[in-house]
Amino acid sequence: MLNGLDVVVFINFFIKYYIPPMIANAMPVLISKGRPIDFGKKFIDGKRLLGDGKTWEGLVTGLLGGSLASIVVSTYLRQSSFIPISVLASFMALIGDILESFIKRRLGIKRGEPLPILDQLDFAIAATLTYAILGYMKEVALDYIIMALLIILIMHLTTNVIAYLMKLKDRPW
Ligand code: CTP
Ligand code: MG
Repeated sequence: MLNGLDVVVFINFFIKYYIPPMIANAMPVLISKGRPIDFGKKFIDGKRLLGDGKTWEGLVTGLLGGSLASIVVSTYLRQSSFIPISVLASFMALIGDILESFIKRRLGIKRGEPLPILDQLDFAIAATLTYAILGYMKEVALDYIIMALLIILIMHLTTNVIAYLMKLKDRPW
């Protein structure tokens, strides 16, 4: 699928488009407790709107981390005009994760219980859609996007299993 030269192009693509949203998504994990975004409120189905796993503190740290990563990455790639797009994609990544929790609660899945694939890719899908809507994915081969999502999926699963084995997490997902 990828030849030698394309690997370099792919790595640049991955760093530019996916590292900032990945950092934005990883930062909130450092928040162990915070104020729930849904203020503890329930939806019309009697279940929590989002649940205790989505906090204001998490959203803010994610946005700060994603913004910093956007500045560093785009500057490093000498594409500083891309910083605002990257910051927006990082923000939308966090919104995507919040939306995923909303969907999980509607499906009756409790906070922290798994919804495979969507749990790992919620933020990356949201970031990809943001780039696509803004017209930044037009020249990108679909192969690249699929490959990026696959790498993110595998990275997520392996880091979680490692964190579980190191007893940093009480569940392997
Ligand atoms: N987190 C947060 N605020 C956010 C997003 C995440 O505080 N906006 C923190 C929470 O401590 C959360 C952790 O990051 O538990 C991991 O996020 P995620 O795996 O998405 O949450 P879950 O606990 O699995 O909850 P859910 O079932 O709602 O996805
Ligand atoms: Mg999630």
